[in-house]
Amino acid sequence: MTPTDDPRGHVTPALTDGLLRALLDSLGRSGVLTEPDDVAPYLTDWTGTHHGRVGAVLRPRDTAQVSDAVRLCAEAGVAMVPQGGNTGLCGGATPDASGRQVVLSLGRLRRIREVDPAADTMTVEAGVPLATAREAAAAAGRLFPLSMGSEGSCTIGGNIATNAGGTAVLRYGMMRELVLGLEVVLPDGRVWDGLRAVRKDNTGYDVKQLFIGAEGTLGVVTAAVLRLFPQTPCRATAWLAPRDVDAAVAILSVLRERAAERLTAYELVSRQALDMVLAHVPGTRDPFRENHPWYALVELGGPAAAEDLDTVLEASLGEAFERDLLVDAAVATGTAQREALWLMREGVSEAQRSEGPSIKHDVTLPIGDLAAFVADVGTRLRALLPGIRLVTYGHVGDGNLHYNLSGPVDDPSALLVLRDELTAVVYERVAQRGGSISAEHGLGTTKRDAAAALKGEVELDVARAVKGALDPTGLMNPGKVLLT
Ligand code: FAD
Ligand code: MLT
Ligand code: ZN
Repeated sequence: MTPTDDPRGHVTPALTDGLLRALLDSLGRSGVLTEPDDVAPYLTDWTGTHHGRVGAVLRPRDTAQVSDAVRLCAEAGVAMVPQGGNTGLCGGATPDASGRQVVLSLGRLRRIREVDPAADTMTVEAGVPLATAREAAAAAGRLFPLSMGSEGSCTIGGNIATNAGGTAVLRYGMMRELVLGLEVVLPDGRVWDGLRAVRKDNTGYDVKQLFIGAEGTLGVVTAAVLRLFPQTPCRATAWLAPRDVDAAVAILSVLRERAAERLTAYELVSRQALDMVLAHVPGTRDPFRENHPWYALVELGGPAAAEDLDTVLEASLGEAFERDLLVDAAVATGTAQREALWLMREGVSEAQRSEGPSIKHDVTLPIGDLAAFVADVGTRLRALLPGIRLVTYGHVGDGNLHYNLSGPVDDPSALLVLRDELTAVVYERVAQRGGSISAEHGLGTTKRDAAAALKGEVELDVARAVKGALDPTGLMNPGKVLLT
């Protein structure tokens, strides 16, 4: 045995022939990949910055096969890295460089086990893509509200493991609030059937919440009971040019008061982010003649019989104009225009990726602090790296900014030389204002140490105790979230 690159020097044995034979017996030939071309797609993350190696990629078909695979690996002392759609942004689904871990892909657990419109619940397996889950709910006349740019590829299991957020959190909450029950394979291979569909259950610790947001470090989610909602077929959508970030926040208050729970999304996009979208995303067009420093995308949603959402939106925007908060607005007049506006928001991640290396900061702040944060941190970062591009956007209704950075146009890689200094400035300012350095993407490996440095020893002790209790041998996604 040789040590892996686990920073604590944990030792993971290589896959023996005996273990591979046992895995093949259980999962079949299509369930165990070892050829370099076959495993390659599982070894690099969406950002292209995290790369690993594996002894094998395991592709179980159902919960029983997940349980077998985990038990066999656990008995052999082989570390496992659960993976869903591989769209995570913190390196959590990438194996380490040792070649001694296995990726446990949940991509073949794709059954929609049940949709119950009367109870407003749906039971789906972990590998179901988010978009497919949304379609299944819609086919039954219901809404599963989680929504994000990656929904065609990311999976329900990954959404649960990362406690994903997205563009409808303002109204429906994060994944944690959308899960009623879970089925989980524990690190020793036992299956916990917690697929409860009730809305009230005060029978002790809420065990399922431990696995939500744990990034695969405590067990493998194999299925979940999800909450459904009434559909919102009526929608009113507009692209706004607020006077500045403070004005964008003030407009949110106006919208909240007038639209109440019908306010579904409120997203911020900086001019820098929009410029990248217009350059790289086909079919996008700036609806305004003049450039503005900031934009906001607002959407209201309601049932077909609801009063006219356009009227509510227009009244809100009218008040915002009167109070000099709003400089311009473009209201979508149909589905094609609505989709075009959403493309300008959802396209930012992909557009920024096309511009070369980037640093992602996924921060939340008290909403009233956003404008001061943007001004203060922007000044400091520009002083550190003249020409740096601040690709600021995000779920401003939740106080969540994607404060992402790209290097200067003429030298994009200069960004990475200063990575630590730039990120230190951002995190220091977030901490000073009582914010969080990971609003919705999790920690993986990229934010693990920074998060630990910001948490006190007491909180870290509790976290280590939970990890130690559920995964005493440390084989479930080691090195992610927390160093044990
Ligand atoms: P993966 O990337 O495969 O895995 C993520 C983590 O979950 C890893 O730690 C992995 O080990 C673990 N994991 C995966 N499946 C399981 C399982 N079944 N059991 C246990 N652990 C598991 N995120 C947001 O929150 N909001 C956004 O708006 C958003 N927008 C995005 C837009 C783009 C273009 C992209 C590329 C990503 C975006 N993301 C967003 C990030 C990402 O899509 C989410 O984190 C998503 O929830 C990850 O799901 P996945 O199936 O791809 O998980
Ligand atoms: C988004 O909301 O578009 C993503 O979560 C942000 C990102 O890719 O950094
Ligand atoms: Zn986001």
